[in-house]
Amino acid sequence: MRDSTVLVTGGGKGLGRAFAEALGKAGARVFITGRDASALEETAEKLNTDGILVEPLCADVVDSGAMKDVVARIMEISGRLDVLVNNAVDPGPVGPTADIDFDAWWRAQQVNVAGPLISAQAALAVMIPAGRGRIINLVSPAGIKRWPYATAYSVSKAALLKLSENLAAELRSTGITVLSYNPGMVDAGLTRAGMRFAGNTDDPWLDRLGRWAIEARDSGAFVPLDTAVDCLVRLASGDADVLSGYVINAEDDLDARISDREAGSR
Ligand SMILES: NC(=O)c1ccc[n+]([C@@H]2O[C@H](COP(=O)([O-])OP(=O)(O)OC[C@H]3O[C@@H](n4cnc5c(N)ncnc54)[C@H](OP(=O)(O)O)[C@@H]3O)[C@@H](O)[C@H]2O)c1
Repeated sequence: MRDSTVLVTGGGKGLGRAFAEALGKAGARVFITGRDASALEETAEKLNTDGILVEPLCADVVDSGAMKDVVARIMEISGRLDVLVNNAVDPGPVGPTADIDFDAWWRAQQVNVAGPLISAQAALAVMIPAGRGRIINLVSPAGIKRWPYATAYSVSKAALLKLSENLAAELRSTGITVLSYNPGMVDAGLTRAGMRFAGNTDDPWLDRLGRWAIEARDSGAFVPLDTAVDCLVRLASGDADVLSGYVINAEDDLDARISDREAGSR
């Protein structure tokens, strides 16, 4: 990833932080965004101390002006933007959809669907003229399977998956690829936070979610963090560009999928 510049939204915490660290270790210059300035500073400081080049830029993904400013700042500092990792997320409200708080539900759509679109538009303004670029949209099993009682998250991730497919088709002749990446359930970020609700909340739906996540972990359904991170780095480095438009799962046999696709397109 030497000479590559990568933007990871929501890169100050959770999986985004692990992605930023691994991309930096692979040689990329990494910019991380989020709303929490102190978390961004703390992450950047820690990683820079470890010799990893990471720079924090505070911005809300639903703020189009702020995301344009982020890209302008990256161009000023680095002169290029090769990869956008749309990682920031709002987990949304949990409970029966029939009486879920609409404003919280809608906020999750804004952050999880409009956010990646706004970030992609800001990035594409420099990627299209450069004739190269890569956009990786973080999806989830929740957007692939049904995920009752967490419909804000589930519906938003399903929508993001379709955004990736359509954008990839529109950008086919531009040198820019778009992938949906499903890291699987990982003991990090929102899944780890969810597990903490089990037995620690008066909200029966959050308690249920926490217990269910713990059951999934204990039954071996989780993906190891290293597996999720290593696959993301491979996608960011361009290994799977031939799969533009598709969903990549962390535990896929990526080499086999690439070979199958290459054989199909010959
Ligand atoms: N953890 C898992 O098991 C898992 C499984 C499948 C998919 N994923 C996907 O992986 C990605 C990362 O998830 P995670 O578990 O690491 O989540 P997380 O720990 O909740 O982190 C969310 C990140 O998004 C940022 N964020 C939230 N709202 C934002 C906004 N409006 N503008 C800018 N940044 C915002 C947060 O930073 P601030 O608070 O500073 O804004 C934080 O850095 C998500 O797309 C998620 O759907 C995770």
